Amino acid sequence: MVDKSIDNEVSDSELQTQPLVPDVTNPHTDRAEALLSYIKEKPSPLLELANQSIVSARQFNRDMVVQLCRLAAKYEMNPIPVQRPLTGKILISAFYEPSTRTRLSFESAWHRLGGDIMSITDLGTTGIAKGESYHDVGEMLSGYGDLVVLRDTNEKAIYEMMEALRIPIINAGNGIDEHPTQALADMYAIFKWRKGLIEYVIKPEQKVRIGIIGVPDRMRTVRSLLLFLSLFPDAWQEVVIISNAPTIFSTGQREELEERGLNIRVSADLDDELPNLDIVYINAIAWVGDGYEEHGLDYKLDGHSKLKKNAIILHPLARGEELSTELDKTEHNWYFDQARGAVFIRMALLTCYVWLF
Ligand code: CP
Repeated sequence: MVDKSIDNEVSDSELQTQPLVPDVTNPHTDRAEALLSYIKEKPSPLLELANQSIVSARQFNRDMVVQLCRLAAKYEMNPIPVQRPLTGKILISAFYEPSTRTRLSFESAWHRLGGDIMSITDLGTTGIAKGESYHDVGEMLSGYGDLVVLRDTNEKAIYEMMEALRIPIINAGNGIDEHPTQALADMYAIFKWRKGLIEYVIKPEQKVRIGIIGVPDRMRTVRSLLLFLSLFPDAWQEVVIISNAPTIFSTGQREELEERGLNIRVSADLDDELPNLDIVYINAIAWVGDGYEEHGLDYKLDGHSKLKKNAIILHPLARGEELSTELDKTEHNWYFDQARGAVFIRMALLTCYVWLF
């Protein structure tokens, strides 16, 4: 029997009438619709992805990114598709490092496409804790599921697993090396914001200046994003890396990006750069080993930051003090929509495997 004598602070009727928490996600679904109409459908680039494991942003070409964004926009317009193309297929979601967005958005995407999931969230519960090799784990996973999504602090783990895997694998963050599907989510947010940036020829006044507050040498999200940006070099007036780190690029990294067409400048002065930036991408952490490094803590964005009127802020999250919640309710906040859009871009990528299965 329910004890009615308990003095609840909120009565049942009050609970029913309490409003939901205000939505600060600021979803840009109208932009998804516009992007969908803007991009002409071309299936062949997605067919090329069907038989690939995804380890690096280097595996993508321009058409693949554009067509994935088109399909993502289609899913954003219709997040619960009538057709469930992954019915009966099993995703092995192996996250040996903490994750909120990547694991849950991959799993949400797989569920929405009708598939089933086996999820590992702690390396200590697997044979790796007993010294089992990634090679042997790969052998086992080949018999248990249809696709693996792996996050691991050890950047070589994915390559060792691939030596034995007979099913595709997607890199969900390997150490400080790469995080290609996060960068796909970043590109999807950018193209929703300005669909014209997908064009080969862009008028000078329509090019945008992007500032990245972060350290390409240490941050996997930034490493992958820069590679994707370099597929669309004409879209950016310049890419300004804002950092005061002693080492900003790894050996050959800047040279490679410049060869791919990016116009890169480095600045240590955020206040100086901010009023001229159209896109401000900020990140302050890099997961290394069992913990995380913090970078650029002198750089902060808050309600007093001198942002350009229509500038958007992107952040791969999780955020810390570098990005004040004061900005959540402003038009600059595209970071929540960027995280929400990750479900749709991952649905688009996972749909490519339907042709393989
Ligand atoms: N962006 C990103 O990788 O977030 P999670 O660590 O929460 O997956």
